[in-house]
Amino acid sequence: MLDKFFKKTKEIVKKLMSYFEIKKKLPNCGDSDEKFEILRGNFIANGQSRSVWKVKGHDDYVLKESFEGKECININEAKYYYLANNEGLTKIIACLAEIHSISETGKYIIMEALDTSVSLTGKTCNVPKEVADKHKKNFGIKHGVIKCLDYGGVAVEGKISEKPIQHQFPSDEAVAEARALIDLF
Ligand SMILES: Nc1ncnc2c1ncn2[C@@H]1O[C@H](COP(=O)(O)OP(=O)(O)O)[C@@H](O)[C@H]1O
Ligand SMILES: [Mg+2]
Repeated sequence: MLDKFFKKTKEIVKKLMSYFEIKKKLPNCGDSDEKFEILRGNFIANGQSRSVWKVKGHDDYVLKESFEGKECININEAKYYYLANNEGLTKIIACLAEIHSISETGKYIIMEALDTSVSLTGKTCNVPKEVADKHKKNFGIKHGVIKCLDYGGVAVEGKISEKPIQHQFPSDEAVAEARALIDLF
């Protein structure tokens, strides 16, 4: 009887501890992978190199987990963001989803969550010259601003261009026309 009581109490204490662990502040850059892993919430989507999850207890952020051997994508993304930040490139920073932190091995990053439920078809946004993959699925909205959420493919050597370029997402008609053309061949 007493045994059962202690077991139950231990379980409750454990649950409470993990709740407070999750509620406390987000991990910092270079913290262990485990500190990030414990925050893995509901699944959002898979990309080519990463799985993306909600961050438990922090609705404003997502957790990006690299596939094995693809840590360089997270590392590139974080390097690009911090380099732009350090150089005070505010116009570049304004069109990127903020990176809060990257884990020790690069397996995880915590990134600002963007709204991906709004159609971007035909809309225009600013995007850094270095971002080559301008597919709609790599963008989202925060406070009415379209930002890039996947810039792990950028080359981080050398200087970052200071001014973003304007990009217009193709209209449905343009996409259908291009598809029809591809189907011809
Ligand atoms: N910051 C974010 N906010 C909301 N959804 C995101 C965010 N980052 C990624 N996602 C979702 O996860 C998908 C895969 O993420 P992405 O960074 O594009 O991975 P990959 O580099 O593997 O292509 C995106 O297409 C998007 O649906
Ligand atoms: Mg992507």
